[in-house]
Amino acid sequence: MRPLIIAFDGPAASGKGTLASVIAVDYGLPFLDTGLLYRAAGYLAHVRDIDPALAASLIDAEVLADDALRGREAGERASRVAAIPEVRAALFKYQQDFAGQASGAVLDGRDIGTVIAPHAVVKLFVTARPEVRAHRRWLQLVKLNPALTEAEVLEDIRIRDERDSSRSSAPLEMAKDALLLDTSDLGIDAAIATARSLVKSRL
Ligand code: C5P
Repeated sequence: MRPLIIAFDGPAASGKGTLASVIAVDYGLPFLDTGLLYRAAGYLAHVRDIDPALAASLIDAEVLADDALRGREAGERASRVAAIPEVRAALFKYQQDFAGQASGAVLDGRDIGTVIAPHAVVKLFVTARPEVRAHRRWLQLVKLNPALTEAEVLEDIRIRDERDSSRSSAPLEMAKDALLLDTSDLGIDAAIATARSLVKSRL
């Protein structure tokens, strides 16, 4: 039997990370948030003032645990370094090895179903309208930065969507064999229930 690899892709704040972690627990699979790797590469390149591809090769557990990776700037830096092919190449093997574990795995990102694990057993493309995603992301970020407005977050999201979708190296796109899950009008419980039934439908 093929190892169970489940790929979650989609734009920022679509809910894919939350859904992916729930599904990972459901099936007892290890889970990798690949956005964190790009966040770490962008952050390390900035604080050490080094080439982003070199930074990508220096990521360790300590960097990945840094709270700075969760902030607004880290997301913006991540999407800029993620457009550099050498950065993607430096992170490729780690992600592919993670996906290739004998136990199976759940990964979330932008190019899991298309590039990292094109043979994944289940692929979900999770999306939501930009305004809905901006509202969700703002609710998280405003705790760290009370002056932040929802309009600023929406602008960030639009810029990030455009950059992630238009880059030439592994752009954000739905794999042909992925199932679409639009969470715009779903509460968290309904989104989880829908994700569970979509995953089941492919097993
Ligand atoms: O998912 P998250 O918002 O943490 O990702 C940050 C950025 O990292 C994204 O905007 C995207 O540019 C990049 N990324 C990517 N490929 C992935 C995961 C994230 O290009 N597999």
